[in-house]
Amino acid sequence: MHRRLASTLSVSLGAIALVLTAAAAQAKGSEAPLAAAEAKADKTLAQMTPAEKTVLTHGIMALPLGPTLPTLPEGAIWGAGFIHGIPRLGVPALTETDASLGVAYVMGMRKDGATGLPSGLSMASSWNPEALRKSGAMIGSEARAKGFNVLLAGGANLMRDPRAGRTFEYFSEDPLLTGDLVGAAIGGIQSNHIISTIKHFALNGQETGRKFVSSQISDPAARESDLLAFQIGIEKGQPLAVMCAYNKVNGASACDNDYLLNTVLKKDWGYKGFVMSDWGAVPSLETAIHGLDQQSGEQLDKQVWLDKPLAAAAAKDPAWAARLDDMNRRVLTSIYAAGLDANPAKPGGAIDFEADAKISGDIARQGIVLLRNEGGALPLAASAKRIAVIGGYANAGVLTGGGSSQVHGKDGPVVTIQSGEHTGFDALIAPTWQPSSPMQAIKALAPGATVTYRSGDVIADAVAQAKKANVAIVFAVKPSSEGFDQADLSLPYGQDELIAAVTAANPHTIVVLETGNPVAMPWLDKTAAVMEAWFPGARGGEAIADVLFGKVNPSGHLPITFPKSVDQLPRPVLDGYNEFEPNFAGDPPTPDARITADYNIEGSDVGYRWFARKGEAPLFPFGFGLSYTTFASTGLKTDGKTASFTLSNTGKVQGATVGQLYMVSQAGTPRQRLVGFQRVDLAPGASQKVSVTIDPRLLAEWKDGGWTIAAGDYTFALGSDAQHLGQPVKVHLSARSWKD
Ligand code: BGC
Repeated sequence: MHRRLASTLSVSLGAIALVLTAAAAQAKGSEAPLAAAEAKADKTLAQMTPAEKTVLTHGIMALPLGPTLPTLPEGAIWGAGFIHGIPRLGVPALTETDASLGVAYVMGMRKDGATGLPSGLSMASSWNPEALRKSGAMIGSEARAKGFNVLLAGGANLMRDPRAGRTFEYFSEDPLLTGDLVGAAIGGIQSNHIISTIKHFALNGQETGRKFVSSQISDPAARESDLLAFQIGIEKGQPLAVMCAYNKVNGASACDNDYLLNTVLKKDWGYKGFVMSDWGAVPSLETAIHGLDQQSGEQLDKQVWLDKPLAAAAAKDPAWAARLDDMNRRVLTSIYAAGLDANPAKPGGAIDFEADAKISGDIARQGIVLLRNEGGALPLAASAKRIAVIGGYANAGVLTGGGSSQVHGKDGPVVTIQSGEHTGFDALIAPTWQPSSPMQAIKALAPGATVTYRSGDVIADAVAQAKKANVAIVFAVKPSSEGFDQADLSLPYGQDELIAAVTAANPHTIVVLETGNPVAMPWLDKTAAVMEAWFPGARGGEAIADVLFGKVNPSGHLPITFPKSVDQLPRPVLDGYNEFEPNFAGDPPTPDARITADYNIEGSDVGYRWFARKGEAPLFPFGFGLSYTTFASTGLKTDGKTASFTLSNTGKVQGATVGQLYMVSQAGTPRQRLVGFQRVDLAPGASQKVSVTIDPRLLAEWKDGGWTIAAGDYTFALGSDAQHLGQPVKVHLSARSWKD
């Protein structure tokens, strides 16, 4: 059975009925249901000349990077990419921009500014698909107002390693959470008559050697983890494009991977949109036969394969001609389904930056995770007399992630650290700060206090300030960027020593982390409170201050496990890290260079599932997050298909919590999987009954090309996080199997 875009599908799985509604299955903002878009695509295809058939199949990177500088063609905008249209047939050009966190800054090539969302990790910590939808709608509207009609968003890779450079761009280590959140974000983006991608398909687990590392994984393990995240994301968000990844999967480049593109995506999942390559990820002409529909950023590849060589192959061979028609049909179907022709995006549209910044701030507030709060150290009293703010350029702004996803307002970053180590791409990867100063926001909320700032570069100076203050707030930062993995889990710039010294000087020390990855905290026990604010976006400073002073009750929950040390990970040494020089382009230094990332070690037990399997306690578990109030989750009832339970606010202040339902054993064998979640906002003393539908794929194993639920006892438990679980409820399920 193929799951189709824009169709109503009802599959009876024994007692389990899985229903995709028409509403969920249709891209939001589509001009026409997919079938109508396909019919229109066929009509256009019938009128195309052979030369026109290789117009939509390739395009340039519209940026001055790479071996040759492009001259921007008419209609192109400085941004990630440009695909010519076919004016004779009314087919619009594709104007492409990054990405998930807002319209990318592209090293200041455009001076029109954009609203930066918090990092993917931050937004995912909200566990709030609705907030993701709103944020997606916001960045999609900004893209459209700038004349872009394709947003290269939707990072859906699971975090298999907390050191991976793009962890900040992605959502989580769990397929259900990632799929639900990315789907909501894509739905929001596409509500603007623009196309969104979902990326990077698939198994992009590290940046080291990103074009020559091979993610080795068995089919069952992939289907139950990374591929499931994409599958759920595609079902929920109906992205009209898929971007294949740089890395190899089981030896074949993800963009040249017949199994991933033709078998999994197009055959098993019935995907009708098009597959575009990542920039510089196309090794050969055969990629077309292996399922690639469009070559992006073509000047980064050795050859523009999907232009003249493709036309020549199609002229000679009917199989290639049929494939070329299919490539065009897919791109056209997506263009028509999004209504790009009827609703052209034009540069110069109005943007309400204040309203958009508010949306960014709202999700940042929901994404801040309170990790420690000893003796009610937080919220801070507005009556504090002297506050020592230390480090992290908190006087200026908040840290952002580096690489293609970086977003800045029109005046650019307020702080830039030039490393100068990586020639060519410095401007793209340098750590930069957005102008939303936590210190200014703290001052605004504590008007009666003396608020001092020290950079923390001189530890003795920071200590002297901390000694004089009622409270010290250390802002600890750890930059991360696309293209580069982290060496380890420690904080850079001597910040571990700084925090240790400040906590020794003033026991009322709060640490605010701005990181794109989990970090180790050797000083944890000495602190009064710790909050993870991630890269919190255009209103990050205000969001942090609001949580510090209790204007907002923290409600974020970790979407990724914080290990105690790398020794707890499936791969204590990140593959290739010690052998190969960091390299943004990711090209192999010699033709025979190889890195193997053996994901069969953990298989589908990514993140918390691995910790459960090993019986190890992490530093902070997946799902963890404190609040200024207390909650209870009670009354779990489930038959294995749906579950209901009650969430109560048992404390004294309003707050939001996330009900988390885990399977803890599968047919009698211990195995942990998140099977449902729901965020609720509760007044003090209030309770709410919650119901969740359990996706049967989360209970199943992938066997013999399909899903199988083995007969047996399955236990479920509510958890305040993946490690702290309530009373288990046992359900007997009978055997059943089905195909996608
Ligand atoms: C990244 C993609 C991005 C593309 C275009 C690549 O380096 O991997 O995520 O969309 O560049 O900027």
